[in-house]
Amino acid sequence: MANPSLLILPGDGIGPEVMAEVKKIIDWYGDKRGLRFDVSEDLVGGAAYDAHGTPLADATMAKAQEVDAVLLGAVGGPKYDKLDFSVKPERGLLRLRKEMDLFSNLRPAQCFDALADFSSLKKEVVAGLDIMIVRELTSGVYFGEPRGIFTEGNERVGINTQRYTESEIARVARSAFELARRRGNKVCSMEKANVMESGILWREVVQKVHDEEYPDVELSHMYADAGAMQLCRWPKQFDVIVTDNLFGDLLSDAAAMLTGSLGMLPSASLGAPMANGRPKALYEPVHGSAPDIAGQGKANPIACILSFAMALRYSFDQGAEADRLEKAVEKVLADGVRTADLMGPEGGKPVSTAEMGNAVVAALDASL
Ligand code: IPM
Ligand code: MG
Repeated sequence: MANPSLLILPGDGIGPEVMAEVKKIIDWYGDKRGLRFDVSEDLVGGAAYDAHGTPLADATMAKAQEVDAVLLGAVGGPKYDKLDFSVKPERGLLRLRKEMDLFSNLRPAQCFDALADFSSLKKEVVAGLDIMIVRELTSGVYFGEPRGIFTEGNERVGINTQRYTESEIARVARSAFELARRRGNKVCSMEKANVMESGILWREVVQKVHDEEYPDVELSHMYADAGAMQLCRWPKQFDVIVTDNLFGDLLSDAAAMLTGSLGMLPSASLGAPMANGRPKALYEPVHGSAPDIAGQGKANPIACILSFAMALRYSFDQGAEADRLEKAVEKVLADGVRTADLMGPEGGKPVSTAEMGNAVVAALDASL
């Protein structure tokens, strides 16, 4: 059988640096576990714009549709701020999500024991935290029509449209319920049914999918603003949170910060199963391109490394190997290896991006 295929899109800013460490991990799995991937690499975001005048070339899009999984670093940077909206780096990422129909975005927020002190919240509030935000990723206000900046009378008006169909809500709800069954069996759905019709429909459809297909899972509903508050107050009350595209964007950044560092959190964006049974999938760190530290070897590669662990689990049925990689990261952190973003007030000498990657490879070796 052919090796599974991976398309690597390092992107901009710290993307290429953190992806270089993931490539070491991929090589390790080939050498030490006989898990070989056919890896190809291409451009996305500002890097693609510089080369082709577009943040995602059609040929790259076509490749992404064919491979078993896409691994993406990060996109964007100040150099591209003045570009026309239609060719901004972010449009490349949004095109991938939309055309691959990656409707279910899994964003775990997990607090590693060794880092519980880094959270801006009290240690007892975050220690042992393990929640999963399931963010709808291909619809809602990010993509709804009409959209644009129009002229009305003597002034301009900016318009975006929050729009959800029943089937769009139902499919992301199903993916949240499926996940919950493999975790703490609890889903909290968040919307603003008190002010938005799309929120009323969201709540109804999630409840219906629950009652008809997943009555065994515990379901609750919360207004998204109250959800944000509860996330900061007592996050451990949650297991799986399912929410729309925009609320998911905000809530997942807040949840990420609970864990101490945005540099730690991976994500998986999943679509419908392909002919080979694997879901269409793109894996990326939750953090951005961090242009302020790009090219300095300061970035934390763990979020990107853990994104590859998610690929092992969700695309390649290698749950045990995903566990191995996650444990290796845990060990490295427990041993006190820290990139600059993980330095506490007591200081110390941070390791470089490459040193962190090497430490994870060494921990993988030690796991054999
Ligand atoms: C994210 C990012 C993106 C989003 C940007 C880069 C388009 O913030 O993945 O959370 O808003 O979805
Ligand atoms: Mg975001």
